[in-house]
Amino acid sequence: MSIQFDFGIMYQGDALAMLRTLPDSSMDALVTDPPYSSGGLHASARRADPAQKYQTTGTKRTYPPMLGDCKDQRSFITWATLWLSECWRLLRPGAPALIFSDWRQLPAMTDAVQAAGFKWRGVVVWHKPSARPLLGEFRRDAEFIVHAAKPPAKTFNRTCHPGVLRHAVDTSRKVHLTGKPVALLKDLLAVTPEGGTVLDPFLGGGTTAIACIETGRRFVGVELSAEYAELAADRIRQAEAAVAG
Ligand SMILES: C[S@@+](CC[C@H](N)C(=O)[O-])C[C@H]1O[C@@H](n2cnc3c(N)ncnc32)[C@H](O)[C@@H]1O
Repeated sequence: MSIQFDFGIMYQGDALAMLRTLPDSSMDALVTDPPYSSGGLHASARRADPAQKYQTTGTKRTYPPMLGDCKDQRSFITWATLWLSECWRLLRPGAPALIFSDWRQLPAMTDAVQAAGFKWRGVVVWHKPSARPLLGEFRRDAEFIVHAAKPPAKTFNRTCHPGVLRHAVDTSRKVHLTGKPVALLKDLLAVTPEGGTVLDPFLGGGTTAIACIETGRRFVGVELSAEYAELAADRIRQAEAAVAG
């Protein structure tokens, strides 16, 4: 199923299956936040409900279930290589790719990115000042964005963008269990071409699409969960109405 918007299109279904239907060299950037399949050393810990893995104990707010977050390490790398290879085919040469990861899955994700044919360019840090304290340990107050490009890597402006992006989780605009702040996505889009089309195969609550709308870009999104696709569609319509004034 697909929903057409003024600024783009969202498909509800499996990313790999949907990506295979799209034409070669049709996208200007990949910006995505896939399920991390993180949360522990052992298979049982990874299979736990994402609400348990990624939410602080005692958090009252509930969200629809997040799908596809229980792969073991080998299947995670194989699966990520498959969908990243499809994204590589869809991107134009020189297009940037920005893929979220956490500290546990960062080595797996950088392996998959390179196995899919991308040139790895670096890692951007998302600093989350609101992370809970861990007594006697380092506060885990960062997530990471793998920066890569479909060769030959290109730049699209002459600004030097910061490598550490500080944004609090925006609970007032968050509709997804692991929803990212719109302002963070807007900062990431700064290295993508203005007016270009941005691919997000794991759209969740639609944050990438909203950042595209607010910065004058187009989007192509995919989301497996019907509940999250509906929430994303509502947010996208509101964002489009806001920019239309
Ligand atoms: C980390 S979340 C994205 C959150 C998003 N960045 C936001 O701010 O709302 C990953 C999303 O991928 C979806 N997903 C999991 N497996 C998928 C698949 N095979 N194809 C498409 N979407 C999938 C999950 O349902 C989840 O909503």
